[in-house]
Amino acid sequence: MKRVYVWTLPTRLFHWLFVSLIVGAWIASLEDRWLSLHAAIGSALGVLLVFRVIWGIMGPKYSRFSDFNLRLDALKEYLLTLFNPSRHYAGHNPAASYVMIAMLSTVALAIITGVLAYGIQENRGLLAFMHTGLFAEMDWFGEIHEFFVNLLWVLIAAHVMGVLSDRLLHKSDRTLNSMIDGHKNVDGESAVLTGTQKMVALIGIGGTIALLIYTLYVPSNPLTAGHNEKIDYAKANPAFVNECGSCHTLYPPTLLPRESWTKMMGDLSNHFGDDASLDPADHTTILAYLLAHSAESSSQEMSVKMMQSLENRDMIAITQTPFWKRTHRDIPDEVFKRDAIKSRANCKACHSDVEQGIIEDNAIKAI
Ligand code: HEC
Ligand code: HEC
Repeated sequence: MKRVYVWTLPTRLFHWLFVSLIVGAWIASLEDRWLSLHAAIGSALGVLLVFRVIWGIMGPKYSRFSDFNLRLDALKEYLLTLFNPSRHYAGHNPAASYVMIAMLSTVALAIITGVLAYGIQENRGLLAFMHTGLFAEMDWFGEIHEFFVNLLWVLIAAHVMGVLSDRLLHKSDRTLNSMIDGHKNVDGESAVLTGTQKMVALIGIGGTIALLIYTLYVPSNPLTAGHNEKIDYAKANPAFVNECGSCHTLYPPTLLPRESWTKMMGDLSNHFGDDASLDPADHTTILAYLLAHSAESSSQEMSVKMMQSLENRDMIAITQTPFWKRTHRDIPDEVFKRDAIKSRANCKACHSDVEQGIIEDNAIKAI
């Protein structure tokens, strides 16, 4: 046995950057209001993955896919002689090779479905043009995205267990240490980088970091920016703002269907215990405005989901709808009772953009 240089610097940098971005993406998925950060990290992960595929084709020995041992008889032999190995692998052993390919493919699928969900459901990012009535019902990309993420956790667990068992069973190989210093104690020749490979690595890894910084510092970037337009209700319909925004949040008309608005406007003298009656002229313009911009008319996620969740099309309290209850079920009662909030119906205490007609994840205030 000798000391062999197996993992060159770009392969190791890839590995640790990949780990950090996956952990980062996971943390950023814990709160809805961090969704743009999650998308920015996911985009960087996408570039890093493309680099890894190119690296797998033209990279140095051991990192190339053609050096991954995917022969089934080799896998069988490896697993049968796990405790008493007949052969030490300089690069990935057969079991690890399978896990690597599975992890890279799963991350690719998670990114693709993530970008689809982000575009179709959230009207954000590269595929925002797919956010139309035509695709409005396709809200399952988010779920497929989660499926691939869960699969990735399983693969990561398999990978970590593989490395740890290698540490116990084949300690002298230095598999774990090799991901830090690049060297293993095995038979084989050392990997060497050509000039072109160094160049490609610099572009791939540098590009990943540059993209991450760019998406974080330029919110209008095409990868994470949202396309839901803010509405200036004061311009669009001053009566609506003056009358319906005086006692509470100015609820966007896109939050309830036509039937709800018709019913509510038909009984304003007894409006949740208050008298909100209007003179006939205001009543006519406000009702027309609400009906023209009701949930049916919008492809925004909140409108589509509201429509899908309503069995009774004539509910008038947004906070009583199944959609609203479901989205807010994790918020403890005492939060709504706080002085700064006071009521579930006080949307603007938590959604800083609601009075502009949109409810974006990144405009949810920390509670
Ligand atoms: C005189 C005060 C007043 C005016 C004016 C008023 N409202 Fe209300 N509205 C209330 C009160 C009080 C509630 C109950 C709020 C709560 O549950 O905290 C309410 C509740 C609502 C809700 C349901 C909120 C929930 O619980 O989900 C909607 C929707 C609504 N109002 C729409 C309107 C519209 C549209 C107009 C204009 C035509 C309007 N309101 C004008 C007092 C008013
Ligand atoms: C106490 C703060 C609070 C109040 C008040 C509140 N919300 Fe929310 N809302 C949240 C939080 C937090 C989330 C994210 C929930 C999650 O996914 O964990 C959310 C999520 C949502 C979403 C889903 C956004 C998305 O894209 O995932 C909609 C739509 C929404 N709220 C509408 C409303 C409306 C309409 C009102 C008023 C009738 C309201 N909220 C009142 C805190 C609040």
